[in-house]
Amino acid sequence: MILVTGATGLVGSHLLLHLLQQEEGSVRAIYRNTQSINKTKQVFELYHALALFEQIQWQQADLLDLPALEKAFEGVTRVYHCAAMISFDPKDEHLMRKTNIEGTANIVNLCIAYQIAKLCHVSSIAALGESLHPSTPITEKTEWNPELYHSDYALSKFGGEMEVWRGTQEGLDVIIVNPGVIFGRGFYREGSSELLYKVHQGFPFYTSGTTAVVSVEDVVSCMIRLMRSNHKNERYILVSDNLDNRELLHFIAALLHKKPASFEIGRFGLALAWRLDAFISVLTRKKRSFTRAIAKASLSRFNYDTSKVEQTLSFQFISYRDFLTELSKSFK
Ligand SMILES: NC(=O)c1ccc[n+]([C@@H]2O[C@H](COP(=O)([O-])OP(=O)(O)OC[C@H]3O[C@@H](n4cnc5c(N)ncnc54)[C@H](OP(=O)(O)O)[C@@H]3O)[C@@H](O)[C@H]2O)c1
Repeated sequence: MILVTGATGLVGSHLLLHLLQQEEGSVRAIYRNTQSINKTKQVFELYHALALFEQIQWQQADLLDLPALEKAFEGVTRVYHCAAMISFDPKDEHLMRKTNIEGTANIVNLCIAYQIAKLCHVSSIAALGESLHPSTPITEKTEWNPELYHSDYALSKFGGEMEVWRGTQEGLDVIIVNPGVIFGRGFYREGSSELLYKVHQGFPFYTSGTTAVVSVEDVVSCMIRLMRSNHKNERYILVSDNLDNRELLHFIAALLHKKPASFEIGRFGLALAWRLDAFISVLTRKKRSFTRAIAKASLSRFNYDTSKVEQTLSFQFISYRDFLTELSKSFK
C-alpha cells in the first residue's frame, strides 16, 4: 500500500493519477476536509479518469494529528510526502513552520516506526543553497548559507528537509526532490498556476529576476521513477527551464492573446509595493498578497543545474513552451 500526503494539492493529485495509471499498487491518500477532495476529483475529471479516482482509499488526517496519522500508516510500505503549507504572509509563519517541520518530523518518525521501505519527500528549490553569482549554477550540493535572508517558507522547507536527512541517519531510505515553480492542470486560482490567471486579468508589471519552472507531469514522473530505482538518500533538482520573468510573462500573454506586461518594476518600486501591501493588510485585515520575500525573489537571478536527475534517470524535461501551451488550452 502506498500512502500519499498532500493528495488534495497540485502535486499530490497529479501524483495519485500517475500512480494509479501506472498500476503502482493500491493507494491511500490523506485529506483534511471533504471539500478539498473535490479538487483532486476535478483533476481526474480533466483526464477522464474518474474510474481511477474511485480506487483511492481516503483517510482523514492532519500532519499534526499523530493518532490519525498512525491509522493512515497501517499496512503502508511506501510513502510520498507532498503535503506542506505554502504562504508568504508573515502571519502564517508559526503554523507554516509547524506544518512543514513538525509535520514532516511526524511523517519521518512514523516511517521509521512502521518500517516503511522508502519515503519520497517533496522539498523545494527554496531549500537549496544560493549562489552568489547568477552565472554559477546551483546544484544539489550548493551549501545553505544561514547568514543570507530567507523567506519563512524557505526556512520551513529547509527545516523539513533536515528532518528527512535525520531520518536517513536512523535507517530510513529516502528520495528528496527539489522542484522549481510547478505548473499543472487544475488549481488555476491558487498556487503557481495562478500566474496564468493574473496574466489573463492583464497584469502589467515584470521584474528583472528569473524563475525556474517545471511541469507537474515531470515532477511526479521523476518521483515515481526515483522511488522505483535503487537510488536512495539523495536529493534531485527538478527544473526544466531557468527563465527571465519577462520572457515567462510574455510567453503566457501570447498564449492567452493578452497584452504583454510592459512596465519593469525595480528595487525601489518593489520595496514600496510590499510596504503598501503590509499597510493595506493592517487596515483591511486581509491576507498579504505581496511581501518582502516575494519582492526579493522577483529580483533574484538563479540558474539551477538539473544534470543530476537527467543523468540518473536518462530523463529529458518537457520544455516550458510545450507544457505552458498545453496548460493554456485547458485554462481557456
Ligand atoms: N507548487 C509549487 O510551485 C511548488 C514548488 C516547489 C515545491 N513545492 C512543494 O511541493 C509540495 C506540494 O505542493 P503543491 O503545489 O501541491 O501545494 P498545494 O496545492 O498548496 O497543496 C498542499 C497540500 O498539503 C496539504 N496540507 C497542508 N497542510 C496540511 C496539514 N497540516 N495536514 C495535512 N495536509 C496538509 C493540503 O491539504 P488541504 O487541501 O486540506 O489544504 C494540500 O493537499 C509542497 O511540499 C511544496 O512545498 C511546490
